[in-house]
Amino acid sequence: MSNLVALITGSSRGIGASCAIELAKCGINVVINYNRNLEKAKELENYIKVNYNVDVMSIKCDISKEEEVISMIDQIIDNFGKIDILVNNASICKDTPLLDKTVKDFRHILDVNLIGTFLCSKYVSKIMKELGHGKIINIASTNALDTYYPESADYDASKAGVISLTHNFAKELAPIISVNCICPGWVNTDMNSSLSISQVREEENKILLRRFADPKEIANVVVFLASSKSSYINNEIIRVDGGSFSE
Ligand SMILES: NC(=O)c1ccc[n+]([C@@H]2O[C@H](COP(=O)([O-])OP(=O)(O)OC[C@H]3O[C@@H](n4cnc5c(N)ncnc54)[C@H](OP(=O)(O)O)[C@@H]3O)[C@@H](O)[C@H]2O)c1
Repeated sequence: MSNLVALITGSSRGIGASCAIELAKCGINVVINYNRNLEKAKELENYIKVNYNVDVMSIKCDISKEEEVISMIDQIIDNFGKIDILVNNASICKDTPLLDKTVKDFRHILDVNLIGTFLCSKYVSKIMKELGHGKIINIASTNALDTYYPESADYDASKAGVISLTHNFAKELAPIISVNCICPGWVNTDMNSSLSISQVREEENKILLRRFADPKEIANVVVFLASSKSSYINNEIIRVDGGSFSE
């Protein structure tokens, strides 16, 4: 078991849960963060405890709330004494036609996806600076680059903001902390559960590999960026989308 500690935001399910498992497989101690899904977070915590020789804890925290982020980081420091790796993964998405979008809904998406990434990066980078090293891995989306999806302007803008934070923080936190960003394309998770079969087929046809990703295929890249094998990669935006192309 290594003595590294990783915090993965939004890891009760989907890509975040897969990141927690794949990092634990590498002997990294993991902190599972959830907002609503206590049951899934505890299930994952037990699965990791039983299967991997690492320490694991789960913490409820709404990453859009500053006081909750501070309390989560305090609990991690009390338990582990440090954080080496931060995966800013938690996010929400709600597709609504432009004319039906409310300021409240738009702001909520920015609060979780963008402000949440800012808050976790702010408080964890303070710990990493004291530690003398650290890796921050942001999860944005190809929607921030070019595969915009109708009715998700708020989500797409929040993810473009995450790319901007990546470049900004990478410059400010260098050379102590590396900051990189992954832009997944379509991934088989709850986030896409409302798509009809015909919508899935239509989107699959725009992907060179002709299928959505398994969450593990994103987690594998997170593991690489968290490891020393990526020691000279910094300030980078990495597409993991099976070779998608916009029409
Ligand atoms: N799926 C895709 O096709 C796709 C494509 C491109 C990018 N991405 C990005 O990949 C990341 C993971 O997506 P996913 O598909 O795995 O999502 P998901 O299955 O919908 O899971 C979202 C996770 O975020 C957590 N979460 C939501 N709001 C939160 C908050 N306020 N505070 C803390 N945690 C919160 C959820 O926790 P609870 O369940 O406990 O509430 C859950 O663990 C996201 O950044 C997403 O934008 C996904």
